[in-house]
Amino acid sequence: MNILVINGPNLNLLGNREPEIYGHETLDEIMSWLADQPEARGHSLKYFQSNHEGAIIDCIHEARHETDGILINPGAYTHYSYAIRDALVAVELPTVEVHLSDITARESFRRTSVIKDICITQVAGHGKESYQIGLKYLLKAVVERSN
Ligand code: DQA
Repeated sequence: MNILVINGPNLNLLGNREPEIYGHETLDEIMSWLADQPEARGHSLKYFQSNHEGAIIDCIHEARHETDGILINPGAYTHYSYAIRDALVAVELPTVEVHLSDITARESFRRTSVIKDICITQVAGHGKESYQIGLKYLLKAVVERSN
């Protein structure tokens, strides 16, 4: 399977950014850890990070022909980007939403996800394992979809 892993704004600063919430590992470290997990074996994982909503939308559009599923941590866009939501709906690719932190247990604005209901599921609060768990759900859904 070809899986696109999208990380949104400020996730490029992982490692330095609020380590008490997001941990000490960089995004590159987390992404290469993910690639080494048993779930990822035999699959092609492509990574994209941007701090710009339009760039994320372009990336989602470009994925529509050669990608089987999307794993996305939209960062703060989670909470208000209807444009990213629309892009995900438009490309009709199975998508799982992931977050390092437990967005339900933080500031109230983080409790809203405008993409949750159009995703297979939301995985939050497990640190980097959120990506691994999310990948597991995503691959299962992609397989079910192709049967
Ligand atoms: C985040 C949670 C968001 O609320 C926040 O804006 C982020 C990171 C997470 O992975 O926990 O940038 O998506």
